[in-house]
This record gives sequence, C-alpha cells and structure tokens, in this order.
Amino acid sequence: MGNIGRHHADYLIAGKVPRITLTGVCSTSPGKLDAYKEKGLTVFSDGFQMIGSGAFDAVLVATPHYQHTTLGIAALDSGVHLMCEKPISAHKADAERLITAHRRNSATVFAGMFQLRVESRYLRLQRLIQSGELGTIVRMNWIITDWFRTEAYYASGGWRATWKEEGGGVLLNQCLHNLDVVAWLLGMPTRIRGFCQLGRYHSIEVEDNVTATLEWANGATGVFVTSTGETPGTNRLEIAGTRGRAVLENNRLTFVRNEADMFEWSRTATVGFSKPDTWTCELPIEIHPAPHAALMNNFADAILDGTPLIAPGSEGIHSVELANTMLYSSLSGQTINLPLDAAAYEARLHELIAASKHVKEVRAVSSEDFARSFNR
Ligand SMILES: NC(=O)c1ccc[n+]([C@@H]2O[C@H](COP(=O)([O-])OP(=O)(O)OC[C@H]3O[C@@H](n4cnc5c(N)ncnc54)[C@H](O)[C@@H]3O)[C@@H](O)[C@H]2O)c1
Repeated sequence: MGNIGRHHADYLIAGKVPRITLTGVCSTSPGKLDAYKEKGLTVFSDGFQMIGSGAFDAVLVATPHYQHTTLGIAALDSGVHLMCEKPISAHKADAERLITAHRRNSATVFAGMFQLRVESRYLRLQRLIQSGELGTIVRMNWIITDWFRTEAYYASGGWRATWKEEGGGVLLNQCLHNLDVVAWLLGMPTRIRGFCQLGRYHSIEVEDNVTATLEWANGATGVFVTSTGETPGTNRLEIAGTRGRAVLENNRLTFVRNEADMFEWSRTATVGFSKPDTWTCELPIEIHPAPHAALMNNFADAILDGTPLIAPGSEGIHSVELANTMLYSSLSGQTINLPLDAAAYEARLHELIAASKHVKEVRAVSSEDFARSFNR
C-alpha cells in the first residue's frame, strides 16, 4: 500500500473494475493500513501470510522489486492468480524463476502492469508496424528524458535507488515502461551497448542517466536515451521504416509515408538525388483515462473467461533483460550480445550490493503529486 498500491486500491474500491472486489490489503508499514481497516477490508502486515491466508482468488504485488519475485512465486505456488507490478523482477534470473513458477502452476493467470500497452498512441504505432505501412523497420530513436525525479523522491523510501532493494535506477523503474514498449513493438534486439552514469544527478548509487545503442537481427539500429535528472526533458520516439517515418512527440503521432519503398527507390532511380514523394498523416490520439484499471479489467476477464492478456507476465522478462543489459554493458565497458547471461548479471549485481557504501537519506515525503508520475 505504497504510492501505486493506494492508487490501485482507490479505483478498485470505486468500482472501476466491476468483476474484481478488493477484499484485503497488506503493508509492512502498519500506519498505511488503518484507512482500509475502517472500510472493512482484511489487513495483513506480511505479504506471505496474506497469500497463505487463502482468503482471495488473486493478488496484486506492488512492493519493492525483489519481492515481486518472492511474493509472486508464493502466490503462483498457492494457486493464486498474480498481477505483478513492473518490473516483474529486479533481474533476469529472478524473472526466469517467476516464469518457471507460473509454468508449474499453469492454471493460474500471471499478468504484468504495463499500462502503456492500452494507450492509443502505442497501439496505433503497433498497427503501422504490423500492417506493413511502415515497411521494414530500419531505425528507432527514443529520447525519454522527462522522467524527472527530485532528491525528495529518492529519500521517500529506503529501498529506492539502492542495488540491494531496488536493483537499479531509471532503467529498472521509470523507463522500464518504455523498454516494454520497445520490446513489444519491435522485438528484442541482438546487441546492446550501454553508457550509464551512476548518481550523475542525484545522491544515489544507481543509474540516473543513460544512453544506449541497440541493434536488431535485421540490421535495424536504435538509440535509447533516458534520465531522471533532466528537466524539462524530452519524450520523442521516432521509428523509421522503408515506407516512411513515424514520430511520437508532445502527444502527437505523425506518420510521413513514402509513396514507394526507399530500398526499391534507391535501386531503381536513374538520377542521384531524387526521393519518393511523401504524404503526411496526423494520427488521432486519446490519452486513456484509467490505464491501470483497464489492465485490471483485462486481468479479471482472463481469469473468468480466458480472454488473452494484454500484458502477459512472462513478457515482462524482456524489459528486465533490456534494462539489465544496458547496465551490464556499461559496467563492463563492452557491447553485449543477447540473450543476456542471467547468472553472470546476477553475480555482478551481488558484487554491487556487497561493495555498496552509499549512505541513503530517508525522510517522510508527501506523495500528493504522485499521479503526475504516469503517462509517458
Ligand atoms: N505501473 C505504474 O504506473 C507504477 C507506478 C509507480 C510504481 N510502480 C511500481 O510499484 C512498486 C511499488 O512502488 P511504489 O512507488 O508504490 O513504492 P512505495 O515505496 O511507495 O511502496 C512500497 C510498499 O510496499 C510495502 N512492502 C514492502 N515489502 C513488502 C512485503 N514483503 N509485503 C507487503 N508489502 C510490502 C511497503 O510497506 C510500501 O507500502 C514498484 O515495483 C514500482 O516500480 C508502478
């Protein structure tokens, strides 16, 4: 029942997900439970005890990252359906453990809270790609540097921005949503080189400023830039294909369509500087009013009717692998070929935890402006 736990509880209690009834909540911070007790909900101070109570059909895990794996496995092994907040785990080896637990409990539904997948701007991009309108994808650039966070944000939780309890920084927490979109829309790259600065803008030990280059099997390339220290920052996603270029920026999606495939044009043109004619299309975008509730409605439909999940939990491993690889590449000063060696990365993370000397400031911080953190 931290920031996002309370957000989920609010819309569930308000009846925004008609097929789910919130019956109980849990927090290791007892003060957060009183308001829910007063509303008649069962409260727990230990997540494992809550799962073991058998008092409900499904659980939503919205704790610090490492507990996503441990509580998630406990839920699945108890036959409880699981909606797991992002990231599904702090690192790839843990994500594999969670997915294995789901495989051995295949009657359970395991979903991930990747709410950007219901936003029309990304769904329209997906349609442009899948319909072939964009042609063969050759390049992706995403500058997503408007995940600005203050020192107060980092001080608001002892687990935040620590190797031991969060497992990473901007890659694993804020822009993990964007990494999910990259993998979902474009598939997994085959090579990554990351440049991560640790505590560049804040008094933290993990990365808060990142530039990474990516390469896909078909030769497509990409650059991914993110930060929590820059403001105003930028959010510009550009995807270039042989049939045109799509740009998503300032909540406008513009598709400039090549009248002919650019490879074909290059091969067949008889002069040196000609280009295919273009048409410019503005695609309509609506910001989803309740993206988290939309995923929870889908979760309920998956449990009750077998409806396919919008964000299957097992797909959450991709964003974790991208985040881990960018960091691992940076720490080792090398380009990394995917799939990432999960055991090697886990060992490196344990070294970072063991070597940590950072003394973290923790203080009570109001979360009144939390909802402003959504929607990139
Ligand atoms: N999908 C989204 O839009 C979104 C937004 C914010 C955060 N998140 C994710 O949600 C998770 C929580 O983030 P937050 O900002 O709410 O953090 P937070 O620090 O505000 O809250 C974490 C809560 O977890 C509780 N907790 C810790 N260990 C527990 C355990 N073993 N059992 C039960 N409760 C336990 C703590 O008491 C605390 O209330 C993170 O994984 C974060 O990445 C997702």
